[in-house]
Amino acid sequence: MKKKPVVVVNGLVRKDAMAYLAEHVEIRQWTEKTVMPREILKEWLKEADGLWSVRPLTVDGDLIKDAPNLKVIAQAAVGYDNVKIDELTAAGIPYGNTPGVLNETVAELAFTIIATASRRILENVTFVKSGRWAERPSNIKGFDLSRRTLGIIGMGAIGLAISRRARAFGMTVVYHNRHPRQDDAIYRTTYMELDELLATSDVVCIMAPLTDETYHMCDAEFFKKMKSTALFVNVGRGPIVDTEALIEALKNGVIDYAALDVTDPEPLPADHPLLSLDNCLIVPHIGSYTDRTRYDMSILTADNIIAGVHKQPLKCCVNEEVNYEKTKMDMETALAELKAAGVSLSDFED
Ligand code: GLV
Repeated sequence: MKKKPVVVVNGLVRKDAMAYLAEHVEIRQWTEKTVMPREILKEWLKEADGLWSVRPLTVDGDLIKDAPNLKVIAQAAVGYDNVKIDELTAAGIPYGNTPGVLNETVAELAFTIIATASRRILENVTFVKSGRWAERPSNIKGFDLSRRTLGIIGMGAIGLAISRRARAFGMTVVYHNRHPRQDDAIYRTTYMELDELLATSDVVCIMAPLTDETYHMCDAEFFKKMKSTALFVNVGRGPIVDTEALIEALKNGVIDYAALDVTDPEPLPADHPLLSLDNCLIVPHIGSYTDRTRYDMSILTADNIIAGVHKQPLKCCVNEEVNYEKTKMDMETALAELKAAGVSLSDFED
């Protein structure tokens, strides 16, 4: 019987996706709660046909240099800042990510923290829980979103989904990208140069990917260019922000408030100075973290891997130039697949 392809999973992944993957491949999974040591992972990869990468992990040429059978790497995330795509491409390995399925979910989280911060919901909840409401009304005032301007930096599909929500709240939406979009008339958005966006926006929301260009883009100068009444939001990646500069800006009234789904470092240690600020709302990188969306992302990752180990095209491939061409499965592989799935040819007989 033909051996099933071997897929290494270097960390914990939801069980339903593992069960689905196990119908097609043999899984070798690191199930300890600790991060899998890189040297052990390299050892396992020597025998592997595929890798389901789980962060924290730097995926690069060095990781896969002794993995002669490797055909695919995939990760349940849209962002791939931990992956050296060029080095995988040079090795001929397609890399699969999960765009699309999480757009609305991340936009919901982004808008939730914008609304929560603007109306000081956490502070008011704490006030009610303190039992002081019976003595006096809350004097913790929020600020309006309607008739205000949201500036999105990194206007892709998720940015557009945030902009729809902002318009429903009566906001004007401006954005900055490397290039203006061609569909501003459809989405009622306006392109601005970065400095103009920072001077104009009441809420500045980072949705950009982490690249060499965006690393520490939000530094002391950046915050000085914002309105002192503005809310700063990061749903992109932590290292886009110079954390020291953000702390100073929040402490010294350079900007009013911050709402962060991502931070640098991540996770934040309990004694981190960001956590001592009372004008900073932080959630633990939960942009896509709903049951339905995490399921969809995991199944898409499994599908990318199942396709890749059979040298079939990945559904979502970042380096399309090394994605596989659609080919017909040879008879031997098809029969082995059926057998592995517990199907016998006699099942098809009348
Ligand atoms: C989450 O941060 C992702 O990249 O999917």
